[in-house]
Amino acid sequence: MTLIKIPPHWEVSENQITPPDIYFKRRRFLKTFIGAGIGASLLPLTSCQKSSSQTALESSLQRPKLTGITKNPAFAKVDRPITEEILAGQYNNFYEFGGTKNIWLKAQKLPTDPWKVEVSGLVKNPKTYDIEDLKTKFPLEERVYRFRCVEAWSMVLPWVGFPMKALINAVEPTSSAKFVRFTSFYDPDVIPGPTFHLGSLPWPYQEGLRIEEMANELAFFAVGLYGHDLPKQHGAPLRMVIPWKYGFKGAKSIVKIEFIDQKPATYWNTLVPNEYSFEANVNPNKPHPRWSQATEKFISKGPGLSWDIKETLPYNGYGEYVASLYS
Ligand code: MTE
Repeated sequence: MTLIKIPPHWEVSENQITPPDIYFKRRRFLKTFIGAGIGASLLPLTSCQKSSSQTALESSLQRPKLTGITKNPAFAKVDRPITEEILAGQYNNFYEFGGTKNIWLKAQKLPTDPWKVEVSGLVKNPKTYDIEDLKTKFPLEERVYRFRCVEAWSMVLPWVGFPMKALINAVEPTSSAKFVRFTSFYDPDVIPGPTFHLGSLPWPYQEGLRIEEMANELAFFAVGLYGHDLPKQHGAPLRMVIPWKYGFKGAKSIVKIEFIDQKPATYWNTLVPNEYSFEANVNPNKPHPRWSQATEKFISKGPGLSWDIKETLPYNGYGEYVASLYS
């Protein structure tokens, strides 16, 4: 099998960011050696004996089931299988909890109850919603979307949530609203950010869209995944899902949504503007300055090593919905 090297994301050193092949290989290695006591604190090693870590990982994914969900037939499947939940739930980017993929345990510190989301700025009906209000006000649907990280790995995920357009209709932006800024939860007393560059990063994590992008049929707020509430490592209790853009555009654990008239500063674009554009549409023909974007490692099945090299599609395969936004 041909391995493609996934270079470090921004200035994170290579031992801090783990490409999928190395990550899952390491876990298989640890599994093999559990009997010898190597890595016993980290992983499950036999199929009949579960480590406490494995049990904790599984319980982090056992969130309350969401009911009354419609499966949107337009997004019921894609040309690839849905990634196994246990893989998606242990291979995450959530820099508030550290600069590696293995943050699921630390993310359990995220305080999600109660949770309020302020929607404000250039709108006729500003409102602070309780997360439960959002889940009942807007009909919830499931959408299976491709997910493509700028680091050239990908998954397919069954999100549950509601179209961003529904929130736009509820708050009625004024004609001066041109952009929308999304702000993630950040409280340094709770989540101090990764220690390897503490203090030098533009917290809180913020992302932004043009208002026309937010109004596109595909733009989605997720409150759930795999039929239940979002696990904390995936950005509970509310995150953005913009499937035609690189994954970093999808801010997690959102507390504020502001309609504004200027393009907002965003986290990765502020740090490294020449590597992470504001627009960040998936584009196989536009290499990242440090690696190709022509192909991706598609992570699908566990346990252990399982990925396929796939060609990356323009707009991540969603051109028919969104190309007109950029003509
Ligand atoms: N949101 C916040 N608040 N903090 C982050 O570090 N990482 C982004 C995005 N949203 C990030 C974030 C990146 S780089 C990616 S690829 C996706 O979350 C990863 O989502 P997942 O862990 O659910 O797969």
